[in-house]
This record gives sequence, C-alpha cells and structure tokens, in this order.
Amino acid sequence: CSFLQEKDRKTICEILVNGLARQEYRGYDSAGIGIDGDNRGEMFFFKEVGKVAGLRKKIAESNVDTSKTFLSQVSIAHTRWATHGPPSVVNCHPLKSDPKAEFTVVHNGIVTNATALRLVLQKRGYKFESDTDTEAVAILTKYIYDSQPDKRMSFTELVKTVLKELEGSFAFVFKSSHYPNEIVTARRGSPLLIGVKTEKKLKVDFVDVEMAGPEETMDALASPKSGGLLAPPQAGNGPNLLRSQSRAFMSEDGMPQPIEFFVASDASAIIEHTKRVLYLEDDDIAHISEGELHIHRLRQKDGAPPTPAHRTIETLEIELAEIMKGKFDHFMQKEIYEQPESVVNTMRGRVNFDRNQITLGGLRAYLPIIRRGRRIVFCACGTSYHSCIATRAIFEELTEIPVSVELASDFLDRKTPIFRDDVCVVVSQSGETADTILALRYCLERGALCVGVVNNVGSTISRETHCGVHINAGPEIGVASTKAYTSQYIALLMMALQLSEDRISLTERRTQIIEGLHALPGQIKKVLEGDKALQQLATGVLANQRSLLLMGRGYQYATCLEGALKIKEISYMHSEGILAGELKHGPLALIDENMPVIIVMTQDSLYPKVQSAFSQITARKAQPIVIANEDDEGIPKGVKTIRVPKTVDCLQGILNIIPLQLLSYHLAVRNGFDVDFPRNLAKSVTTE
Ligand code: G6P
Repeated sequence: CSFLQEKDRKTICEILVNGLARQEYRGYDSAGIGIDGDNRGEMFFFKEVGKVAGLRKKIAESNVDTSKTFLSQVSIAHTRWATHGPPSVVNCHPLKSDPKAEFTVVHNGIVTNATALRLVLQKRGYKFESDTDTEAVAILTKYIYDSQPDKRMSFTELVKTVLKELEGSFAFVFKSSHYPNEIVTARRGSPLLIGVKTEKKLKVDFVDVEMAGPEETMDALASPKSGGLLAPPQAGNGPNLLRSQSRAFMSEDGMPQPIEFFVASDASAIIEHTKRVLYLEDDDIAHISEGELHIHRLRQKDGAPPTPAHRTIETLEIELAEIMKGKFDHFMQKEIYEQPESVVNTMRGRVNFDRNQITLGGLRAYLPIIRRGRRIVFCACGTSYHSCIATRAIFEELTEIPVSVELASDFLDRKTPIFRDDVCVVVSQSGETADTILALRYCLERGALCVGVVNNVGSTISRETHCGVHINAGPEIGVASTKAYTSQYIALLMMALQLSEDRISLTERRTQIIEGLHALPGQIKKVLEGDKALQQLATGVLANQRSLLLMGRGYQYATCLEGALKIKEISYMHSEGILAGELKHGPLALIDENMPVIIVMTQDSLYPKVQSAFSQITARKAQPIVIANEDDEGIPKGVKTIRVPKTVDCLQGILNIIPLQLLSYHLAVRNGFDVDFPRNLAKSVTTE
C-alpha cells in the first residue's frame, strides 16, 4: 500500500489486514504486516502463525498508538504458503535485512539460488534469522546498498541490481528506511498488479514503461567476468535509467490529485478500494513514490533493449459481493450452489440455441490454424486437468484431431516434443499456476499455437496465450475448485463444437449436445435439491471411513478422479478415482465388505460394462453407493442410490460431479475441517 492521503495508523492496518483476508485463499500458513513508525525509517511489525484472523487479533491487542495520522505512508503485508521453512513467526513476511529493518521485503514465489546467496552473504558477516529464501533477498539488498561508496543509487536501480542476482520466480515488494515513502515492486513468474485510487478521473489511462539506458548490461553482478557477488558494483557502474517518460497522475482538469496505490497479487485484495488496475509483466519494476508511479524494465536476455511499451490502466468488472460468502457458510458451498448460473455465464453470448451455433469470439480468427493442427495437447494441473480428461473424448469425436492430456509438471519433466503444427490448450482457473505457465512458455518457445482456457481475466495465462476462452465463472475463492470445473468443461466442449461446425455429418450430434446444454442449468438445480440426502450419507454410512473408492469409465472416469480429488482435498480422507475397466487389473484386490465404494452408473454406451463392474464388486461383498439416472429401474433394490437427471453422454459428467462436490463438502464439515482453507494447500500455486 502507498498513500498520499491523510490516514491514521489504525485505518492503514485495517486496509492491509482486510486485503490479506481477501486473498488469504492463496496461502494461509501465517501472515504479517510492516507499517511505518513515528520517526523517519522506523517500522512496526506484526506477525502471526495461522490465518489472518490471528494477525488481526494480535494487532487489536497491541498497544501501538493508532491515532497518529500520516500524509504519506508506505506499508506492506503478506500471507504465506510456506515453501522454505515451516510456518512460524520468524519465517513470516515481511522479512528484514537487519534488526533496524533497513530493507524490508514481502515475496511470493521461490528464489532458487537463495542457498548460494545465503552462503556468500554469511561469509561476509551478515546474520540470518529465518529459514526463508526471502530473507536472503532482503540481506542481499542491504549488501549491495552498503557496497556503494557514495550510496547514490536510486531505490529502483538498487532493486534492479538485486533482481539480476536472483533465479526462480517472484513477485516482490521492497521498502527501505533509506528511501522513506518509496516502494519498489517487481515480478518474474508470479502475479502482481497495482491498483490506482483517485477521486477524479485520470488524465491518462496508461503508464509508459521506462527503458534501460544504453550502458546497462544484463550481467552486471552475476557474470563470471565481474566475479558475481565477490565483485560489488562500483560507483557510477550501476544501471542508468532513462527517466521522465512516465507522467504524474493528473486528473482530467490537469491538476495533480490525492492518490493511493495498492500493490497485490490478486485483484480480490483491492477491489473494495479501486477497480482500476495495471497488471505488471515479467521483468517489470515499478517504483511508487509521492503520488507517482514509474514502471521500468530489465534489459532483455539477448542484450537487445526492451521494446517501448506501456501498461494500460484497466477497469475490473468484479463486484465486491462476488467475493463475499453471502448467506452461505463457506465459499465452496456458495460456489457449488452458483453452478446453475455460472454455467449460463460460460455460455452467455456464445451459444445460439435457435441456430445450433457456437461462437467463441476469442478463437474465431484461429479456427483454421487449429483445424489444420497435427494434434491438440491439453495441459493443466489439478481440477483443471480433470476438465481436460472429461472432454478429451468428445473433442476427438467432434474434431477428429488426436488429443493428448498432460499434467503440466510431468509434461515439463519429460521435455515433451512440441512442434509448430501442434495446438496447445492450457487450462487454468487462476491463470497463474506456475507449472502451467512454464508449460505454456515451453510450447510458445517451440512455435505451437497456444490457446488459454482461463477464469481469471488479466491473468498471466490469459495474457501470454495467442488466443483463448474466458470461462466467465466469476471469482472462485474456495480452494477446492467446483464451479470452475463445470465451466471449464463447458468451455472446452464449446470449443470442440465450434471447431466441428463445418462438418455436415455431425449435425445431428451437435444439435443433440447443444440442446443438452440448454437444459443443463435446470438439471443442475435439480441435482442440488438432493443436497440433504448427500449430507445424510456424509454423516451416516460414510462418516468415520478412512477410504473411499470412486469407480466409473468412459466419460465418468474424469468424474471419479475429480470427485476423489475433492474428497482428499477437503475431508483428508483417502480417496481414489478408478477406471472401472482397470478394476480386474489390481483395484479389485482392495474390495471387501468394509471398503466404501461409489460407482458412477449413469446410462451411456458403456452402461453394460459398468454394470459388470458393479456385479464384480458386489460379488466380493462390497456395498457400493450408485450414482444413477433418475429413471433407471435397473439398480437392484436396497442399493443406496444418488439420482441425477439424464443428459447427453458427453454432458453427464457435469451433473454427476455435483453430488460428489456436495458429498466432499459435507464430509469436511462433519469432520470439523476448514472447508475453504484445507491444510497444506493453496488456491493458486504460483511456485513450481
Ligand atoms: C491448486 C488448487 C487446485 C487447482 C490447481 C490448478 O492445486 O488447489 O484446486 O485445481 O491448483 O489451478 P488452476 O488455477 O491452474 O486451475
């Protein structure tokens, strides 16, 4: 946060803590804030292990004078998902370079060469308190600052020099007692945006990017020639920035005006203050001071100066109410219940039910290239990966292009061959998952056409792909993804439908699917009406179980994988999605009268085969719970059955997953677990 407004310390704390609470779903091991003290350079820190509520309590109980009012203020805050070092107060951000907090840093990401930096800095006498990679960055900043004889580097130049020493991914905010009322923030690989709040309309709607000076080289400290850290920079040797291309924020009447800047990883943290944001790109370095924002860039790797650019101030379309729980107990529950509307939002303006036509505007220009593609590679993680598995068959059926489905991490580990005539479809709710972003960049480098299927507008994946589809499911806060899954499913299906629009032989099939889409929202409502029965299962036969197997085949394999993921994620119960066709090749050994099993037996062409799996497990005394269509009379009497409406085979997975979402929700509530904040997980995993 950076203010050029009169604000008291209590208000500043509240703004920060509320912002943390709103983006807490990104990580919630511990939280901390650092705010300006009364005297120049002085800072107060509050840190607490656990959720933001604990930090809020700690601040409320403190005896810091909250009446003090500031004209200009810079404060920073952080909520953590531990990567280096366990959650503890010492590992909490903001991390400082020394007891006097000459440099203070908050960080999202992982600095992969932190251990090497730590060793070098320790040799030079610097003391570390925490186990974090971030502390090495704070101390490195101080080291570089201390090494200049005349201490004349600007804060931006200093941070730029630091960044050149770092490997890995990051979004940072730096603050320093040597540069009071200034903030420097930078990103490489992790998301970062700046909110701008003013009373009046701004004169400009973009910020120019300031270019590096001609004498700057990328290898300043890091190159073997300069001896890396062993050869600190000499006076006058530092980066030289061309200044004055950015403009102060003037209102339309040409007058400078009071201004507040908010730096955050996620728009949800700031939308109650402003909807006007700039998204920073990788290697952007933003400097905020006294009501001015300047954006700079590092010189590119090939040595060429960066091309001139500007960052547009965009207006966000989300409303505060969308990121509030409303009448629901948990975000996950709210999001499950939103599905009748969220699927409509995914289809809105894209499906013409009268003419059986699909129009995805973001893909139109690329359809010929996709159709000519040699193969389509779906790439994603977690739930998004399951939406790819769920739609692969219909994609292949409609497009007749081979589709492979890849987990982003494995795809990179394998260094999968990718060529110019491949089409890579990266699917991500957040658009910020590090593994998926790296996979995307890998495909971009190899010249493939890259298509994004993303919920979060403005995210890295939506910006870096050539084209794509926003799933428009609205903000998803619950860590366990629910409505994003059903919307991704529909978005991928719509893509396949649009790609196949010129195939006359498929007219009937396409009509059948589009009619199915039309009926879907009403059918989802119907499934949600079964909530009570699912709660009873969770508190009855399935309560106190240690394990739960989910079986299905064909389109329902993805349902089983996704259902099992939901159950694991939030109820911490072992759960496995099993392809029923593989039953006899291993999983059957797990079956006895005590093993809880859910079998997905909705009626499609594979129904007889699933019936046979049902017989095989009941013959081994299992008492499966069956997910079946409403009018299916073939389910033996006495078998516990979850009924769902019938739809087209390739859409049935959307209806079938909803009871499993509800079941996992009730299992977690029944066991007293924190549904929206499952242990050890984060909504958006922005580290590899
Ligand atoms: C994390 C979340 C999952 C999510 C996965 C992929 O693991 O906990 O819920 O499915 O990331 O996230 P994305 O934002 O790329 O869809």
